Amino acid sequence: MTTTQPKQEQTQREFPPGFLWGAATASYQIEGAADEDGRTPSIWDTFSRTPDKVAKGDTGDVACDHYHRYKDDVAMMAALGLDAYRFSVAWPRVQPGGSGPANQRGLDFYRRLVDELLARDIEPWVTLYHWDLPQGVEDRGGWVARDTAARFADYAAMVHDALGDRVRRWTTLNEPWVAAFLGYGSGIHAPGRTEPANAVAAAHHLLLGHGLAAQRLGVPVGITLNTNSIYPATDLPGDLDAARRIDGLLNRIFMDPLLKGTYPIDVRGDLAGVSDLGFIRDGDLETIHQPLEFLGINYYTTQVVAAPDPQESALPDRTWPGSGDVRFVGRGAPVTAMGWEIHPAGLTDTLRRIATDYPAVDLYITENGAAFDDEIGPDGRVDDPQRTAYYDAHLRACHDAIAAGVPLKGYFAWSLLDNFEWAEGYAKRFGIVYVDYPTQARIPKASARFYSDVITRNGLA
Ligand code: FCB
Repeated sequence: MTTTQPKQEQTQREFPPGFLWGAATASYQIEGAADEDGRTPSIWDTFSRTPDKVAKGDTGDVACDHYHRYKDDVAMMAALGLDAYRFSVAWPRVQPGGSGPANQRGLDFYRRLVDELLARDIEPWVTLYHWDLPQGVEDRGGWVARDTAARFADYAAMVHDALGDRVRRWTTLNEPWVAAFLGYGSGIHAPGRTEPANAVAAAHHLLLGHGLAAQRLGVPVGITLNTNSIYPATDLPGDLDAARRIDGLLNRIFMDPLLKGTYPIDVRGDLAGVSDLGFIRDGDLETIHQPLEFLGINYYTTQVVAAPDPQESALPDRTWPGSGDVRFVGRGAPVTAMGWEIHPAGLTDTLRRIATDYPAVDLYITENGAAFDDEIGPDGRVDDPQRTAYYDAHLRACHDAIAAGVPLKGYFAWSLLDNFEWAEGYAKRFGIVYVDYPTQARIPKASARFYSDVITRNGLA
């Protein structure tokens, strides 16, 4: 035992008292146990089994085996000092096939998980939908069908009935933009449909599902969006217009109905050639515009966009219905293993913009982090200086936003564990804890120690 402690560096940037420090995961990405205790397939089980959809043919069948290892994982969270844990509930576990009564065996898993968290003084933050739609619901039309919004509200009520006595923080949806536009537009995510007009309908029905679920739960809820800043390449009118369009389709198409009860007029115009928006019915916007307890923001990067190139005759990008000819040019910054540019100042910009345009709602970073090609060193440790630097820079950006008056109340690292990174499979590692998949050993990376120190000092050295 040593008697002298290394001299602690002083905390330079302290966060406000009570700032919430957490880490996040999602059901399909970590649970495994794909057909246990009555769970039925989700669209991601189907999609990952379809050839050439997911890198190396990876699936979530086993993932991090968290379904069986949750106690050890919660112990690890406690060791890291987390205040809160954001996880999602798998709809096909709780309501197999997406219809009929609740499956108590599926709910029991989440009861056990929540009890374990509370016993360790970690606040559970439940997300009701992180993309694993029951395949049965997709077979009846998925999010393109209006009825799915009502089915989602029924399922949300089942989860709330089971956990509402112990869980106070509810998030309806994770990143409806991804679910709608990558799931039904570009098709690079499940269910893999390439139907741009239907992607817009899916976005509306996801929002409607949020509103109906909020009404059914009758408690304050939040929602998580992948909002980020879109910058024009130059101040030329064509580039400014490109930025307006992409900001409309990524950000305002969700934030305006949620926080103002309207769809932006310019976005309606941009979509005119794609859809008559006939799926928007009287009263829908009132349903969507529920009081929000908080807005969750998942932030990884930003985009720089430019006017369409008149010489370019390639097929338009179906990710952006009606604006698929906008060019994504980037800023030439260093990238993560995902190829995403690292732009910490963009996080400050994003937070400030939301606080200005949509004031009076508490903000949380519900995801932020980076994939890098980690390796276990000869000493058995995983040293990930790039990820640590990423966290350090982005936490500074959060601190800057708070100093500028943004009501940012907490931060969740993505992710607690390396996991199934959707179309990229297990090759992309986002964890602060390394997962050795063949043995399922967990090895906290150097970034986990860094983050733990941030939590302890409620700030940065
Ligand atoms: C977000 C998702 C999350 C994870 C990160 C890297 O879009 O919400 O599940 O895949 O990206």
